[in-house]
Amino acid sequence: MRTLINNRLVHIETFGCQMNERDSEIMAQLMAAEGYIETATPETADLIVVNTCSIRGKAEQKAMSLLGRYRKLKKRKPSLVVAVAGCVAQQEGTALLERMTHLDLVIGPQEIYRLPELVANIQGGSGQYCATIQSPAFVIPPFLPELGNGPSHKRFVTIMQGCNNFCTYCVVPYTRGREISREPADILAEVSHLAGLGVREVTLLGQNVNSYGQDRPGLPSFAELLHQVAEIPGIARLRFTTSHPKGLSEELMRCFADIPVLCPHFHLPMQSGSDAVLKRMNRKYTREEYLAKVAHLRAIRPDIAITTDIIVGFPGETEADFEATMELLEVVRYHGAFSFKYSDRPHAASAKFGDKVPEAVKSERLSRLQARQEKITFERKEKLVGTVTEVMIEGGSRNGDQWSGRTAANFIVNFTSAETFTPGQLVTVRLGEACQNSFRGTIIQHEEQPA
Ligand code: 5AD
Ligand code: SF4
Repeated sequence: MRTLINNRLVHIETFGCQMNERDSEIMAQLMAAEGYIETATPETADLIVVNTCSIRGKAEQKAMSLLGRYRKLKKRKPSLVVAVAGCVAQQEGTALLERMTHLDLVIGPQEIYRLPELVANIQGGSGQYCATIQSPAFVIPPFLPELGNGPSHKRFVTIMQGCNNFCTYCVVPYTRGREISREPADILAEVSHLAGLGVREVTLLGQNVNSYGQDRPGLPSFAELLHQVAEIPGIARLRFTTSHPKGLSEELMRCFADIPVLCPHFHLPMQSGSDAVLKRMNRKYTREEYLAKVAHLRAIRPDIAITTDIIVGFPGETEADFEATMELLEVVRYHGAFSFKYSDRPHAASAKFGDKVPEAVKSERLSRLQARQEKITFERKEKLVGTVTEVMIEGGSRNGDQWSGRTAANFIVNFTSAETFTPGQLVTVRLGEACQNSFRGTIIQHEEQPA
């Protein structure tokens, strides 16, 4: 049996997606059970965990330069344990320990549950250790989160991990492995537990939620799972991310008409508006097929907000290919888009493609695209001015009457009220002025404080 170590401090830095945020939450809770308290200052920590992302070159560089800076801390305090988790850890493995000798532990996404044991080994003098086994037989363990330092009204719940798609630009199949669905009973138990703690909004997480349940017989489809989660009392808002356009089923689209708590927001990564580029990306859909899905979603749920991801400067992207993406923005008129310059990633097939687009061209295309999308987002928001919508309170300013929340489509709304609200409470607001990143609104009414 392990003895409790009191008053130790852990500092966790998280890069990347919600999956990583969620993994960091798990690691914090596992270490809390060992008596560790979270600290925001790495200088005071006994354990530092850097949960890394490898999706683009920039994300990896950021994590690496942060890790480099911890060399000094380790020198000053040799008992400090420095652990690297997440996708760079899985990708680099022991090479990371060789390159950075001040690191103690490299721990892949499937191994985070062993963090306490591995840290104890290091403290016992085991020396550097790499835990990056990735097994297709891995079972995502049951987990009942405490609210800890995170928000108390909304949480992420992992429903599956890994990806089988092999888009040619993407490192994820190599860092997160093949698709593994979590047991539905564990998912439902976790959401019920969160609802019991007062959580009102849940986002179901997976690299590609469309294939939930397809890796083992007897599991529900993702749409069936959504219906089951939506039945859990106390959950007022349900979201999910991310869905690949390819396997987006009629059954899933219908959920936006049939499940009242499912927020009318769909993140549907397009990546490029050019069929030639989509083909080289191995996305397995055409522009026309994608647009048909968008049209169908809007027919089912006219107020649905659609957002996307776009990569500019994929190898071989011509000016005409890029123009096709620009034109796509005009056709879909997304509520928002995340856009990125293509970068080569280890293992990803496109790293070996010729005809790389020069950095300056990528930058120029990215800023053209972002400027256009910003205008479209703003025009979309201006169209909503005057409408009445439900907003979930996120928080208020400390000194009183300024409140902030999110619409079901995930827009931020700020409003003034002398009343007091709690995070997670639903209020009805008339949207006033559209600002760059938010709306100003006027409160009309609010529900009773949630129990
Ligand atoms: N280069 C640039 N962007 C990438 N993305 C994934 N891989 C790369 C890459 N190699 C983007 C995609 C994806 C988002 C999470 O990151 O748009 O949807
Ligand atoms: Fe980054 Fe992708 Fe890994 Fe998430 S799964 S941390 S986005 S590389």
